[in-house]
Parts: sequence; structure tokens; C-alpha cells
Amino acid sequence: MEIIDGKKIAAEIKDELKLAVAELIKNGKNVPGLVTILVGDSPASESYVKSKAKSCLEIGMRSKIEKLSAETTEAELLELVEKYNNDKDYHGILVQLPVPKHINEDKIIDAISPKKDVDGFHPMSVGNLVIGKDTFAPCTPAGIQELLIRYGIETKGRHVVVIGRSNLVGKPITNIMLQKKEGANAVVTICHSAAKNIELYTQQADILIAAIGVPHFVKADMVKDGVVVIDVGINRVEDSSRPKGYRIVGDVDFDNVAPKSSYITPVPGGVGLMTVAMLLKNTYKAYLLYGEQNG
Ligand code: GUN
Repeated sequence: MEIIDGKKIAAEIKDELKLAVAELIKNGKNVPGLVTILVGDSPASESYVKSKAKSCLEIGMRSKIEKLSAETTEAELLELVEKYNNDKDYHGILVQLPVPKHINEDKIIDAISPKKDVDGFHPMSVGNLVIGKDTFAPCTPAGIQELLIRYGIETKGRHVVVIGRSNLVGKPITNIMLQKKEGANAVVTICHSAAKNIELYTQQADILIAAIGVPHFVKADMVKDGVVVIDVGINRVEDSSRPKGYRIVGDVDFDNVAPKSSYITPVPGGVGLMTVAMLLKNTYKAYLLYGEQNG
């Protein structure tokens, strides 16, 4: 059994991007820029946004956080997005989700230029992913694929079973894994909360991707020997022995599933750290593809 080290791979990707940005600076070029927009004061969202901005600066990219009050109107947010659609110094725009309830999330996502859609949430990016065109893939599922590739884990013709059908992870990882490309070309089954006897599906997985948001949902008797397990869960569970009163656990009962696995991602230290690395990669890609037009 080998533990997939997301921290190591994320650091590798950041180092590669840092070299690429240093080369741009050396040649007197503009650098890639990411603006993150945060509406309201959720502490979790704020810490995610800060870590994204910090990572940008670490590799020499431009970064800005636009922090707006919880009372910001939909019109005001749309106006800010439009401002950055036309800003030549920012090649990626990320509106941290969820936004407050009085703002229509779909409308905001639709307003982001597909050329700056580094989250890969715009319907045009989603559609392009489905039909196999090069596009911005959502960062967490793109990070899963990157882990599989960099660990040399064969996906071609293998059975990937995804638990979860969210727009953030379940659906995009399904579309990524279906593509006739390197690190994909798999046979994919997607199951979800309405599945009856879910273990009948998960037991057939060569690669099991758990993205359901239920702590320790995947138990040892739900997987076959030699399975590759990718745990996307980030769940808080009460733990009075910890200073914060909680700890983070995944969707997989790691201690019991790991001995049956050939590879497994830990939580924390697995998929989670890849999300930011892939966001930086998408921002660099937006710069390369459209930087000429955008500065
Ligand atoms: N909220 C939780 N994850 C994400 C993400 O990947 N992107 C955005 N924009 N918001 C999120």
C-alpha cells in the first residue's frame, strides 16, 4: 500500500509554475494574475481565499482579494466581475462559493468571462469538458487526475467508480475520466445518495473516488483488494482532544480501508492541497491562452 502524497505533488506543481513565472519576469513580460472575490464573512471561505492568494504570491503571480460585505447586492457583484473581465492584469477570476442567499450563484458564474473561468464552472467550460475540447477543468477533479498521472496509476480501460454527483467534483471527474486521453480513458460508474446497495458498485471499483461529504462513509467491506482510493471528503468531526474542538476527516474510513488498497489519499494531505495548485495552473493557462488579449 502506498500513500499518495498530495502535499509533495502540489509543491512540485508550484515549483514548476514558479520557474515559468520567473522566466516571464526575466523577459520583462506581464505575470499571470488571479483575483478572488469573497462576499460575506464565512471564516472557512476566508481562509480558503487567503490560502489561494498566498500561493499566487509564493510563485510570483499577481494576486488580489476583493472582500465584499454580506449586504453586497447581486448588481454590485456583477459589476465587479465585469470590471475584472476587462482588466488586463487579471487573467483568472474566482468568486468564492457559496455566495449569500440573496445572490443568484448561477448568474454570477455566467457573468465570468469563459476566458478567465479558472474555476471551470461556467456553462461553456462545462460543455467543452463534456465534448472533450481543451478547456478549464474544475480544480479539485483536475487535481485528482494529476495525482493519478504523476503516480503512474493506469486509468485506461479500468473501472472508476465515483460516489457523488456534485457540479464541483462528481460530475466533472466523471467527464474527465471518460475522455480518450492520457490519465483518463476509463470506464466510469457514478453513484449517489439514491443508489440502493451502493456497495455492489463500489466493490467493482479499480479506482474509487469518494466525494459525498459523509465522514468515513466508505468502509473496508465496500472495496476490493488492491483498489486505488481517492478521498475528496473534508468533514469536520467533533474531537475534544484537539485545540479547536474538531478534526478533519475524509469520506473514507482510512484506517480500515488503507490495508486493502494499492494506493490511497490521506485526509488531510491528499486531494485538498491539489485544488490550489490546479487553480494556479489554470491561471497560468488563462494567461498563456488569452494573455495577449488581456495584457
Ligand atoms: N468553494 C468551495 N470550493 C470552491 C472552489 O473550488 N471554487 C470556488 N469558487 N468556490 C469554492
